[in-house]
Amino acid sequence: MKTIRDITISGKRVFIRVDFNVPLDKQQQITDDSRIRAALPTIAYAREKGAKLILASHLGRPKGKPAAEFSLSPVARRLGDLLDADVKMAEDCVGGAVAHLISGMQPGDVTLLENLRFHSQEQENDDAFAQSLAALCDVYINDAFAVSHRANASVVAITKFAPTSGAGFLLEKEINYIKKAMADPRRPLAAVVGGAKVSSKLAALHNMLQHVDTVIVGGAMANTFLKFMGYAVGQSKIEEDLVAAAGDVIKKASEKGVRFYLPVDLVVAPEPDVKAPAKIVPAQEIPTDWMALDIGPATALLFREALQDARTVVWNGPMGMFEIDAFSRGTTSMAASVAAAHALTIVGGGDTDAAVHMAGETDRISFISTGGGAFLEMLEGKTLPAIVALEAVEEKAP
Ligand code: 3PG
Repeated sequence: MKTIRDITISGKRVFIRVDFNVPLDKQQQITDDSRIRAALPTIAYAREKGAKLILASHLGRPKGKPAAEFSLSPVARRLGDLLDADVKMAEDCVGGAVAHLISGMQPGDVTLLENLRFHSQEQENDDAFAQSLAALCDVYINDAFAVSHRANASVVAITKFAPTSGAGFLLEKEINYIKKAMADPRRPLAAVVGGAKVSSKLAALHNMLQHVDTVIVGGAMANTFLKFMGYAVGQSKIEEDLVAAAGDVIKKASEKGVRFYLPVDLVVAPEPDVKAPAKIVPAQEIPTDWMALDIGPATALLFREALQDARTVVWNGPMGMFEIDAFSRGTTSMAASVAAAHALTIVGGGDTDAAVHMAGETDRISFISTGGGAFLEMLEGKTLPAIVALEAVEEKAP
């Protein structure tokens, strides 16, 4: 795949598709700007080379219509602060006014287009819309790994029409880290999988069982596995229809010689509430009217020991309901265990990323992916449509 390094960009209009889909609070303040910071190396490089930068992103799910709460204006301001430069905010992402704004740009200037999803054609991967976007530029760069699992016009169809296309540094880094971890890891390779639902992780678990030496399962999804083991799980969240599928995962792990870990103790409470009384019980002793909401301290220790000899660790999904303090210890301690492992450590998914931040462990993790769904699809072994599109561009090149 061609990257921005391989393309002459000096003085050119360079359209960089970024993923600035950042969380905002009710006052439209950005609560986590990691995705903006992650795109800075590509942006800084393109500015140094004297390109005219046209940045484009989606924000939220505005359903094909303009809506003030989904405007990228707060992002333009934050990006301006981070770059210590003037970032012009375009009123739309296509049309005469945008073309006029871009025609006045000088080398090093940065313009952020308004939310691509204000047009339904973006998510329809519409050719005409992609052509209008491509008409704004001389070079197209995809640096939006987090949306590369979506067949959207600004990441797929646009590559058919842009004069030259390539990957930005972030996209390149994300692919390299995740592919390396799955295809050519330093072993032992351990996968830590958590989160609420087995259903959303089943495909990833099956694919990872082809590659890993150790699997650790925590979070509410572990309850379905415990149920398969014959434990009484009380009021804990489980997916009844997936109990057998959980059993298949355990069976496959054992056939493949993969070490498989489940919680041995749990933090339980009558309800997932800040004020609920909580206690620690062995996994076999969840009271009938209580539910599991976090892994317990013995499990945290067990999981830490299980990671002791790992040389590569991939982590997706929290160990419990970490938003509530009483049920956050398991996830915090997993963040510390992953951070302390003498291994290449890769973390992905919105909640997991938030948990690593909360635990103050960001600096000790080798790579934090900006992807949620995209990261998971890579773990599932899927090829992402935007990456396929960029690879096809290379094949077309003379
Ligand atoms: C994400 O936040 O995972 C990406 O920006 C994709 O957003 P989407 O799930 O709304 O397509």
